[in-house]
Amino acid sequence: MSPATPPARLAPPLNPLLTGPREYPFVTLDRRRDELAPAGVPIINFGIGDPRERTPEFIVEALREGVPPMSSYPAAPGRADLRAACAGWLERRFGVKVDPERHVLSANGTKEAVFLLAMALVGRGSARDVVVIPSPAYPVYEPAARFAGAEPHVVPLRSEDGWKFRIDRVPEEVWARTALLWLNTPHNPTGATLEAAEMARVAAFARERGFWVASDEAYSEIWFSEPPPTMLQQGLDNVLVLHTLSKRSAMTGFRSGFMCGDERLIAALRRFRPNVGVATPDFVQSAAVAAWKDDAHPEEQRSRYAVKRRILLDYFERRGWRVEASTASFYLWMRVPGGDDPAFVDGLLRAGLVAMPGSFLGPGGEGFVRWALVPTPEACREACARLEGVQA
Ligand SMILES: Cc1ncc(COP(=O)(O)O)c(C=O)c1O
Repeated sequence: MSPATPPARLAPPLNPLLTGPREYPFVTLDRRRDELAPAGVPIINFGIGDPRERTPEFIVEALREGVPPMSSYPAAPGRADLRAACAGWLERRFGVKVDPERHVLSANGTKEAVFLLAMALVGRGSARDVVVIPSPAYPVYEPAARFAGAEPHVVPLRSEDGWKFRIDRVPEEVWARTALLWLNTPHNPTGATLEAAEMARVAAFARERGFWVASDEAYSEIWFSEPPPTMLQQGLDNVLVLHTLSKRSAMTGFRSGFMCGDERLIAALRRFRPNVGVATPDFVQSAAVAAWKDDAHPEEQRSRYAVKRRILLDYFERRGWRVEASTASFYLWMRVPGGDDPAFVDGLLRAGLVAMPGSFLGPGGEGFVRWALVPTPEACREACARLEGVQA
C-alpha cells in the first residue's frame, strides 16, 4: 500500500462569541495581579464582590437537614414553601403582596437568571431584539444578550446624572426595537440607588412602549441610610425583579435567588427553564427558606459592612480621593486621581491590593475604581496602611 496522504481536516465550528478576544474582567484582573503583586505579601482583595462573611449557622443547619436519604430531581419553579418564603420577605421588606404560584420562581443565584432571561424574550425573527444595558455594569447582561442573538445597546451612565439611568439618554429609534431594559439598583459598581419616583417613570414608559424591565436588586439588603425600594412597588406589569441570598445572607456558594414579576413572563419562564437544567437542589431550597424567613442576620451583615465602609471612606477623605454615588451595596465608587484607572490599579497591585478598574466594567467606568468591601475590618486597616505608599 502506498503511504496515504493524510485526509484534509476541517475544524468543527465553535460559537464565535467564544473565540473572540473578550475576557471576563475578573480573569484580566487576576492576570494583572499575578504579574504585579509582590511575592510573599498577602493579597488584600477588594476586587471581587464575594462576601467573606460566615453564612449564619442556622442556614447551614437547614441545608444539612434538607439532604434527603433518597435523592430525586427538583422541580424547576422551586418548592411551594420556598416561593411562599420569598413572597413573605417581599411583603415584610417592601410591603408588596405577590402570589407565590403566579409571580415567583426559584433561581440558582441571579447570575443564571440574568443570563437566561434574554433567551426567553428574544428569538429568531423577533421584531424587537434590542437589550438596553446601562454601563458600567455587572459583566453578564451584555454577553447574555449576545448569546441570545439579541443586540445589546450600551448606555454609558454619567457622574452628572448621579450615575442613574435616564430614559432620554437612549435614542427614540432604539426604544422602538427594545425587548428588554436592564436596571440594577442598588447598582454595581457605582452603588447608586434609584428612588421610587424614578422607578415609576421607567415602569410607566416600559408599559407605554411595550418592553420588559428587569430590575436586578441583588444588593437591596446592603444599605446604610435608607432601605432601597423595589421596582415591584410600581406594579408587576412588564416587570421582572431579581433577588439573591448571595449578598444578603453571605451565601454566594449556595447559588440561590428568585425572580418575581409579571404573570405572563413568569408563565413563559416556567415553560422555558425546565429545558436548561437550572432547578435548584432541594437541600439548597431548605436553606433558602430559612434565610428568607429571617430578618435579623441581614441587619448584622449591614453593620459589618458599615464598619468597613467607614474605615475606607475616612482614609479616602484624608487623601482627598472622592467617592461618588455609593449610597448602598458594598461597593465604593472612587474617582481616580489623575483619571487613569488601570494605571492606578497597577499601583495598588504592586502594594498587594486588588480593586477593579472602572473601565474593565464597561463604557462610562473610565477614570473610576470599584472597591468591594469584602475584606475584614482588620484587612481594611492594613490596606489603608499600605495605601500610604501608593502615589496618586
Ligand atoms: C449586580 C449583580 N447581579 C447579580 C449578581 C449575581 O449574584 P448571584 O448569582 O450570586 O445571585 C451579582 C454578583 O456579583 C451582581 O453584582
